[in-house]
Amino acid sequence: MLELKDLSVVFYKGTVNEKVALSHVNLKLEAGDFVTIIGSNGAGKSTLFQTISGAVESDSGQILLNGKDITFEPEYKRARHIGRLFQDPLKGTAPHMTIEENLHLSNQRGKHFSLSLMSHKYRTLFQESLKELDLGLENRLDMKVGLLSGGQRQALTLLMATLVTPDLLLLDEHTAALDPKTAQKVLQLSDKIVKEHHITTMMITHNMEDALKYGNKTMIMKDGQIIALIEGEERKKMTVEQLIHLYSSSTKEYTDRVFLK
Ligand SMILES: Nc1ncnc2c1ncn2[C@@H]1O[C@H](COP(=O)(O)OP(=O)(O)O)[C@@H](O)[C@H]1O
Ligand SMILES: [Mg+2]
Repeated sequence: MLELKDLSVVFYKGTVNEKVALSHVNLKLEAGDFVTIIGSNGAGKSTLFQTISGAVESDSGQILLNGKDITFEPEYKRARHIGRLFQDPLKGTAPHMTIEENLHLSNQRGKHFSLSLMSHKYRTLFQESLKELDLGLENRLDMKVGLLSGGQRQALTLLMATLVTPDLLLLDEHTAALDPKTAQKVLQLSDKIVKEHHITTMMITHNMEDALKYGNKTMIMKDGQIIALIEGEERKKMTVEQLIHLYSSSTKEYTDRVFLK
C-alpha cells in the first residue's frame, strides 16, 4: 500500500546548520493499516508526513503508493490520493466560504472546479455526511466556516479530507489544539470514518493512551528513524506504562532486538 524505502531528508545540506530530519526510513503498510506515531519533538514525524505528501523533497530513497513510485510526483498531484490534517484547525478550510462551498471544493478534488457549476444534487450527500459528525451542522450549510469553533472546524476538515476516500490519510496531531473533551470527540470520529472506509491512516499523537487505543500498529520515532514498530500480540499486551518506558528509554539497538520486524 504505502512503502518507504531508505528515505532520507537533510535540511540545509552542506552548511553548518545541516540537519538530518529523516535517516534511512523503511516502512511497509498494508491497505487498511492504521498506525499511530509517537516520538519527541524534532524526531522527524512531521517531516515524514511532509515528505510522503510531497511538501518536502527527499534527498534519497523511494516512496511507493499502491505500487506506484510517487517520489518525484508534485504535491498537488499527490493531494488527490492523500488526505491531510494538521494541528491548526484554521488550516484546511476556507473561512470566508460557507460549509457547503468548502465541501464542494473537496468533493471536486483533482477535477476542474467551478463554484458556479455547483449543483444542489450534492446537498443531501453533504447533509447526511454532516449529520454523522453529530455537531448540528447539517442544517447550517450556508454558514461561513470562519464562524465555527475549533472542534467543529477540525471535524469539518476531517470530513472534507475523506469525502472522496483518500488512499492514505495523514493526521499530524490533529486534535492537539482542541480542549480534551472535543479532542476525544474528533478522535473518535476520525476512528469511525477510517474504519468505515478502510482508509490506510497514519496518526501522530503525543497521547500515549491514544497511541495504543487507536489503530493496529504503533511506531516510535527518534532522531529521524523509526526505532520501533509495535503490532499484533505484542501491541495488544502492551500497557501505557510499558509504552512510555520504551518511548523514553529506548535506543535503536534495544528496539531493533525486541521489536523492529
Ligand atoms: N523546513 C525545515 N527547514 C529546516 N529544518 C527543519 C524543517 N522542518 C523540520 N526541520 C527540522 O527537522 C527536525 C525534525 O522536525 P519535525 O519533523 O518537525 O519533528 P517532529 O514533527 O517529530 O517534532 C527538527 O530538528 C526540525 O527543526
Ligand atoms: Mg511535528
